[in-house]
Amino acid sequence: MRQTVRPAHSLRGVIVPPGDKSISHRAAILNAIAAGEAVIENFQRGADCLSTLRCLRRLGVQWEWQDASRLRLTGAGRHGLREPAAVLNCGNSGTTIRLLCGLLAAQPFFSVLTGDASLRSRPMARLIEPLREMGARIWGREDGTRAPLAIQGGALHCIHYRLPVASAQVKSALVLAGLYAEGGTVVQEPAPARDHTERMLRAMGAQVAYGEGPNVAVSPLTQEMSALSLRVPGDISAAAPFIVLGAVHPDAEIRISGVGINPTRTGILDALRMMGADVSVEEERTWGAEPVADIVVRSSQLRGAAIGGELVPRAIDELPLLALAGCFAEGETIIRDASELRVKESDRIQTTASTLRRMGAEVEERPDGLRLCGPQRLRGKALSSHGDHRLAMMAAVAGALAQGETVIHNSNVVAVSYPWFWRDLEALGKG
Ligand code: S3P
Repeated sequence: MRQTVRPAHSLRGVIVPPGDKSISHRAAILNAIAAGEAVIENFQRGADCLSTLRCLRRLGVQWEWQDASRLRLTGAGRHGLREPAAVLNCGNSGTTIRLLCGLLAAQPFFSVLTGDASLRSRPMARLIEPLREMGARIWGREDGTRAPLAIQGGALHCIHYRLPVASAQVKSALVLAGLYAEGGTVVQEPAPARDHTERMLRAMGAQVAYGEGPNVAVSPLTQEMSALSLRVPGDISAAAPFIVLGAVHPDAEIRISGVGINPTRTGILDALRMMGADVSVEEERTWGAEPVADIVVRSSQLRGAAIGGELVPRAIDELPLLALAGCFAEGETIIRDASELRVKESDRIQTTASTLRRMGAEVEERPDGLRLCGPQRLRGKALSSHGDHRLAMMAAVAGALAQGETVIHNSNVVAVSYPWFWRDLEALGKG
């Protein structure tokens, strides 16, 4: 499929983004090992979270849709997962494969995890090495560094481990393994990555300490966790294309309602404010263990900024959009400390630079990020999504801000995290 994007004269309207992808995965996986029934509202029905649900069904977990986004899931209990009769296909989803790998390393059966070509090329050693230190038996291609992964689950012992990279997926995998290990597991993060797993586990009754200092400490489960019904906040990563679009467009006022504003995820707001954007957070409330608000963004004059350090894990999936914002900002924008972008669904340093360059921007690609000077003019072009949902959405926003028409090929990849993205983008231009 391909999608054509043209610049709109003005952008007005309200966006309701899909449920948070990270929280939806966790709501399914954690409730799968709890006792009782959970009703999860606003569950994200993108391809990645559906991969998680399909894997869970193969592990013997029962779930059903009660309506388009309300999921009822019956927990199997902490020892209730069953050996899957077939390979578990995680599709494009890094969160599915990594969290399940940690969980399955501790289950007394054999399982195999695989995914699409992108996922099979992504690094798994970061996860397998500490899990092996806990006693896990895991094998993978290329000397245990790539999926498919074969796991012979069994008894684990605790670990005190310092993560070499800030990764919520690896942290969560080790925490899940730690729930079944002998002794207390401690994971130290170089910088805070999203803490949805920790929040949800605590709300379900597990013993997890986090939030003070760089350590997450988890004790093994001594009793069943209670099922947790919740309403999933809107995904700030799905809101981000519209936040950047509204800030850069000369005539825009966009409200994005019901967005999760967990501080480990709001780097996009901090970075844009640093760049001078008019973004406000209104009607703050709490859904389950997570803070939620409406985000209102208006046309702004942006200036360049240096984005690095602790901001990077808090804005990891939004960095391509911040590079795009930099094209329209006065002065220099530098994104650094972000070499993790090279091992996402695509090499996002390279795919961001090539997308912006194709549209006429001058962008310097660096080993750990990007540098560009603005303001620059973008011209509409035929673009590839690079098979990466975040890149497709960044290209769409670039197209809406460029001169002329932009065509995005393989545009349906947005369904990985935001199935109705094209409809929402179009509606804004008519608002
Ligand atoms: C995610 C964590 C991040 C992020 C990904 C989702 C999660 O990955 O990029 O989209 O749900 O835990 P890393 O933990 O590998 O940085």
